[in-house]
Amino acid sequence: MKPRTPPGRIAYVDGRYSRHFEAGVHIEDRGLQFGDSVYEVCRVEYGALCDLSEHLDRLERSMREIAIPMPMSRGALTHVMGEVVRRNKVGYGLIYLQITRGCLRRDFQIPARCRPTVIMTAHELDRAIIAQRRSVGVKVVTLPDERWGRCDIKTTQLLAGSRAKTEARSRGAFEAWLVDGEGFVTEGASTNAWIVEGAGRIVTRNLSHAILPGVTRRVVLEAAAAQKMDVIERKFTPQDAAAAQEAFITSATGPAIPVVEIDGYRIGTGKPGAITGKIAEIYANISINRQT
Ligand code: PDD
Repeated sequence: MKPRTPPGRIAYVDGRYSRHFEAGVHIEDRGLQFGDSVYEVCRVEYGALCDLSEHLDRLERSMREIAIPMPMSRGALTHVMGEVVRRNKVGYGLIYLQITRGCLRRDFQIPARCRPTVIMTAHELDRAIIAQRRSVGVKVVTLPDERWGRCDIKTTQLLAGSRAKTEARSRGAFEAWLVDGEGFVTEGASTNAWIVEGAGRIVTRNLSHAILPGVTRRVVLEAAAAQKMDVIERKFTPQDAAAAQEAFITSATGPAIPVVEIDGYRIGTGKPGAITGKIAEIYANISINRQT
């Protein structure tokens, strides 16, 4: 079944710009057969790509980790991304970029040579929905982290995260915070997780194979440190989160969204907190200067 898409929507697949509803990859593509592909999601503001060099750095790292060769130069990739944004007339939205190992005879053994497939789509975001989440905050529920051991690589193997998000939504929450075997929060299904402790200390889990090195996480950490805010990268538990003053989530889709409830427990006052607001403000100011 093909998705219903607005008539003017354009996708880029393997060197061609085509109508979104007609775009596709071959059934033997390893992205489909094995989830053998990596991706990036980049926010678009005023038609420009936000935090692009960080996204491209992470993309190159993901590809290196699973040995997919870069199919085109960064300059060419940036050009195509800009073109996809322009052709879809996106002002404020997202661009998705997927690179699969390409189309090869199905074989568990990863082939030594390949010709990667490049896929790009872009769409507008509803600013009102994001503003609403910012002003009211969102709820999270905790669920076991059932993902693989290399969550630092941004692959399209998203089934475990997708199942967790679906479970969270069915329980009336916006996001699932995933919990490792030792009882610590790793991250959200599609966001990084943060708490603000009593003394105003901002905490997010340290980088390892257990979490995605979020671009927004990195930019927020640098910006908060530059503002002399108290930030620390360490593990925390759902109990720490329930006892925290504030909590929030970060991702390219919505930088610094306040979390006001975890597993039915109110966090702080149950309203978006001042430190989360300050983080969102600092991020908005710097992201204006970081667009490509
Ligand atoms: N998700 N952790 C996970 C598991 C993610 O999938 C994401 C991003 C993040 C935040 O990373 P960044 O700040 O670079 O967006 C953390 C994207 C938005 C997605 O899959 O739609």
